[in-house]
Amino acid sequence: MDEKKVMLSGIQPSGDLHLGNYLGAIKNWAGRSEEFDCYYFMADMHTITVRQNPADLRRRTLEQLAQYIACGLDPEKNTLFIQSHVPAHAELGWVLNCYTMFGELSRMTQFKDKSAKHKDNINGGLFTYPALMAADILLYQPDFVPVGNDQKQHVELTRDVAERFNHIYGDVFKIPEPYIPKTGARIMSLSAPESKMSKSMPEGCVFLMEKPEDIQRKFKRAITDSDTENCVRYDPAAKPGVSNLMNIYSAVTGKSYEEIEQEFDGKGYGAFKPAVGDAVIETLRPIREEAQRILADKAYLETVYRAGAEKAGYIAGKTLRKVYKKIGFVAR
Ligand code: TRP
Repeated sequence: MDEKKVMLSGIQPSGDLHLGNYLGAIKNWAGRSEEFDCYYFMADMHTITVRQNPADLRRRTLEQLAQYIACGLDPEKNTLFIQSHVPAHAELGWVLNCYTMFGELSRMTQFKDKSAKHKDNINGGLFTYPALMAADILLYQPDFVPVGNDQKQHVELTRDVAERFNHIYGDVFKIPEPYIPKTGARIMSLSAPESKMSKSMPEGCVFLMEKPEDIQRKFKRAITDSDTENCVRYDPAAKPGVSNLMNIYSAVTGKSYEEIEQEFDGKGYGAFKPAVGDAVIETLRPIREEAQRILADKAYLETVYRAGAEKAGYIAGKTLRKVYKKIGFVAR
């Protein structure tokens, strides 16, 4: 019998993956499968709450899958699938919509942010998205849901909805815990080190699939600090730019801040910045090459996501049948 605890997370294929995603999260996922039974899915159904270009969405969904595998997520050890391939998400999503309150949904900060940003498209899906996310989670009865801080509120809502449902119908859903990983570096923008690295500021963002010369150019232009010290020293408050570069360098080389300070003692930013660039390039090179190789092998990718959907669908189907029975739907 499989005694492992279950972990599940979804990722929206709405943007290209970058160094912040990798060092902050993905890098640590590969090792998790030893301890947990892991499910990761491309949340394509969630992305259409804002308008997507169809060709881009299709391409990115496959690219992300290829990149996750290239980052070390072994499809033999993790269940990797595409959300829309498992219809139980939409089905349970509808049910949970009816157990999620208007007031609860109105309090979601992501809804408030996104509806302020997309004033011309405040659609019903954007509003009820947390009910679909609750379905994504509860279908698999996970113990843990690894998410960033911005998604904690949605996991908490999921717990409330699950508890409400269980209160009426008995123990149907396991109540999941949000899992905020201890490991993982918080990487800031190279061009604005007070903000998180983000695809919305491409000049300060290094994408996993980016060409080495473009990566090096971004590091050479990285904002170091306006102090006159020109000295590689870790001090996030006074020297956010240099400290961010040290954080990146430390994450890719495993060196401590003291070791880095010694290595660049007396050498200044002019030597440090390209050294960080080179270290990042060498870290990303095998990932990029492997992702390109996988992406070119459409038959392999298809095998992976079909097998993933089949396994996920089996587990999800069990939960959905239980729910349908509890609420009084006639068995098919
Ligand atoms: N809402 C998440 C995000 O925007 C993605 C997501 C969808 C998710 N369903 C999920 C994350 C289920 C964890 C579990 O990043």
